[in-house]
Amino acid sequence: MATHPLTVLVIGATGSIGRLVVAEAIARGHTVRALVRDRAKGAQRLPADAELVVGDVTRPETLHEAVAGADAIVLTLGSFGTGASSPEAVDYAGVRNVLTALASLASLDGARPRVALMTSIGATTRSSSYGHLLEWKRRSERLVRASGLTYTIVRPGWFDMNGPDEQRLVFLQGDRRRSGGPADGRVARSDIARVLVAALTAPEAAGRTFELVAEQGAAPSDLGPLFAVLDQDPTGSLDAVRDEANMPLDTEPQRVRDDLDAVRARAAA
Ligand SMILES: NC(=O)c1ccc[n+]([C@@H]2O[C@H](COP(=O)([O-])OP(=O)(O)OC[C@H]3O[C@@H](n4cnc5c(N)ncnc54)[C@H](OP(=O)(O)O)[C@@H]3O)[C@@H](O)[C@H]2O)c1
Repeated sequence: MATHPLTVLVIGATGSIGRLVVAEAIARGHTVRALVRDRAKGAQRLPADAELVVGDVTRPETLHEAVAGADAIVLTLGSFGTGASSPEAVDYAGVRNVLTALASLASLDGARPRVALMTSIGATTRSSSYGHLLEWKRRSERLVRASGLTYTIVRPGWFDMNGPDEQRLVFLQGDRRRSGGPADGRVARSDIARVLVAALTAPEAAGRTFELVAEQGAAPSDLGPLFAVLDQDPTGSLDAVRDEANMPLDTEPQRVRDDLDAVRARAAA
């Protein structure tokens, strides 16, 4: 398990969560590397302490410098659009491309960074709402589970919609809240960042997938006990523990099955 301080690569670093992840990781004493598409935007939005590396997750050839030497990777990507900006291209294939870039390094120096992936509450919903975004998020989770890397997958509720008296963090499993609205759960962006960064060094967070919401009560001083009661995802399973089995692999698009085969083959090599 990784120890302090880490070199943490943040992918999605200029986003509403990524910026807080960068700040939290720096505050925890880590060295932070931020993947940015636009260096000027990165310099404007991120602290000078963060090293900026220019890259685009839809262009695999731009990712090698970013992943080289990273001890941990936090992914908080968000997509807006179609084509190269679609959920499939960014939220899904972006994760695939990062794993591929890592695998090409791993054959050189054995790099196996710890991964914290942010997806969403309701990731197991089968619906076309949000342009199939949730389904592509879930497929990105499957790639991470198949990668053989030590991971934590955090599925947050609706950002910053919790009330001032709702600070008690609750980690859920099974993803049964799937109305598609804030009633499913709400959580502060700063707490999402805190949990993602803590997961990088918490032994109890390894191999765990959970929904993150905040309910009435006080903020926890220590996240360790919250991680500790979670069940681990079953070894070799594409889905998280207690997820509904409502995305059978044999009904998945061929390109998705091909990606999974490639990731699994690399993990087994
Ligand atoms: N809003 C909610 O209540 C809620 C709840 C649960 C989950 N979520 C999920 O959270 C995500 C949004 O998080 P957020 O608010 O942090 O997103 P955001 O502010 O839109 O940031 C998205 C980040 O992804 C980066 N990005 C996009 N395309 C990229 C590419 N091709 N290569 C590299 N980086 C790329 C953006 O970089 P640029 O700055 O270069 O664009 C930006 O840093 C969404 O996927 C959403 O489904 C949202």
